[in-house]
Amino acid sequence: MTDLHQLLVERRSIRKYKEEALDPEVVKTILEAGLLSPTGKNARAWHFVAVEDKAMLERLSQCKAAGALPVKNSTLTIAVCVDVTATETWIEDGSIAAAYMMLQARDLGVGSCWIEVNGRLAADGTPAEDVVQELLGLPEQIQPLCLIAMGVPDEERKPQNVDKLLWERVHIERF
Ligand SMILES: Cc1cc2nc3c(=O)[nH]c(=O)nc-3n(C[C@H](O)[C@H](O)[C@H](O)COP(=O)(O)O)c2cc1C
Repeated sequence: MTDLHQLLVERRSIRKYKEEALDPEVVKTILEAGLLSPTGKNARAWHFVAVEDKAMLERLSQCKAAGALPVKNSTLTIAVCVDVTATETWIEDGSIAAAYMMLQARDLGVGSCWIEVNGRLAADGTPAEDVVQELLGLPEQIQPLCLIAMGVPDEERKPQNVDKLLWERVHIERF
């Protein structure tokens, strides 16, 4: 297991993946990380839709006009969705779950990339949420927040440069 700080430094968005499918135990551990994530008032109103079907991945990648290509190339994409009638902190809850899964993925050698759905538009102007809802058969109150594209990395990314962190954004005691 990697040291957490090292994991944070090394995690980068990976958008190219090998063809090989992920081990089911690895997929289960990644999903478990999402289920372990904290939520406002412990609502735990998220739903994670794990998609491996190539045809569906291709259709999902067209949910917005640009920026979703990694979904098409992924071997697994997890749609992070939340019941918006069950919690007012749905964006926060979904975001934390997504980040947990991405970090867990990295720790297991799986590359991932966040693909924003919330507020984005498909090429024909349809809201990306509607496209994903229709494709995945989500009930109306279950809103997709993002898609996390995953797979065995087929690109190398440099770790973050800790010497270039924006320390000027950190304020001590007062802004
Ligand atoms: C809220 C959010 C939305 C993002 N949306 C997309 C996206 O739609 N497509 C994409 O390729 N990357 C997307 N990313 C990945 C960012 O571009 C990436 O995290 C950022 O450039 C920093 O690079 P790094 O993750 O390699 O450190 C998104 C990241 C976040 C946190």
